[in-house]
Amino acid sequence: MRPKVSIIGAGATGATMAQRLVEKNLCDVVMLDIPERENPTKGKALDMLQAGPLVGFSSKVIGTSDYKDTENSQIVVVTAGVPRKPGMSREDLLNINTKIVRSCAEQAAKYSPNAILIVFSNPLDAMVYVAHRVTRFPRERVIGQGGALDSARWRTFIALELGVSAEDVQGLVLGGHTDVGMVPLPRYSSVAGIPLTDLLDSERITKIVDRARKGGTEIVQLLGEGSAYYAPSAAVIEMIESILLDKKRIIPSSVLLQGEYGLREVFLGVPVVLGARGAEKIIELKLTPDELAQLHKAAEIVRETVSKVQL
Ligand code: 2OP
Repeated sequence: MRPKVSIIGAGATGATMAQRLVEKNLCDVVMLDIPERENPTKGKALDMLQAGPLVGFSSKVIGTSDYKDTENSQIVVVTAGVPRKPGMSREDLLNINTKIVRSCAEQAAKYSPNAILIVFSNPLDAMVYVAHRVTRFPRERVIGQGGALDSARWRTFIALELGVSAEDVQGLVLGGHTDVGMVPLPRYSSVAGIPLTDLLDSERITKIVDRARKGGTEIVQLLGEGSAYYAPSAAVIEMIESILLDKKRIIPSSVLLQGEYGLREVFLGVPVVLGARGAEKIIELKLTPDELAQLHKAAEIVRETVSKVQL
């Protein structure tokens, strides 16, 4: 039997995640949205399924508004929520998305008590906290997507600056999934094994750091409506693949810190080994005092946002 992954929220992001998953033949997929959107969700699923003979996949995908259909999922992705509009920060979505994420996580946990939850909704690190609080799942099974996307943006901008393939660029962005809270790490970034700091001077690196931090905002402004979904969905699929295939890849993800990096009781993006048990291990890098200070500042920003959460 193929594993089952449920995606709560079938907007552009959720539907693109579903498409990427079935095209990889990784699992069967359930796309769930609110009852008012049940028919369009079913329509999207059917349309996707009919690409199977053309693209060459046998994974199944269904659309629904009934959580019963998500029963016994191995992974549940919570992507439901309102996206920001131009001029808004991710934090501006706190109140409305808290209610949505709370309800989705509660329902999903009821039908899939052993699932690994991947939270995508914004403000990300606070929404992972909400999902963790309401499900009471162990910390290994409540993971936020932030760093995979932020690192992909960082790697893309490095590749553009150097005129090389993004495939050869390695790089890490830790911290919070907010413009000010992201912590790109030039010291832990390289191109085909060559340290980034040997290839670019600090002025050019600073410009890339700035653009990576504002990567999501740049797209929100360009789109005029909604937020990015191609790269964000690909980032979630990278995490799902590592979990379903027990690859144990190291992917920056938002997890509950319990003393790592000198931080406690806060969700923050750090390098995590993702495998069949979820966030199996947190990698503690040897950060410089400045890098560590940036990470602690990011934690303060998350704590400030979480202090406003009304559950
Ligand atoms: C982004 O950064 C949607 O938060 C997501 O594009």
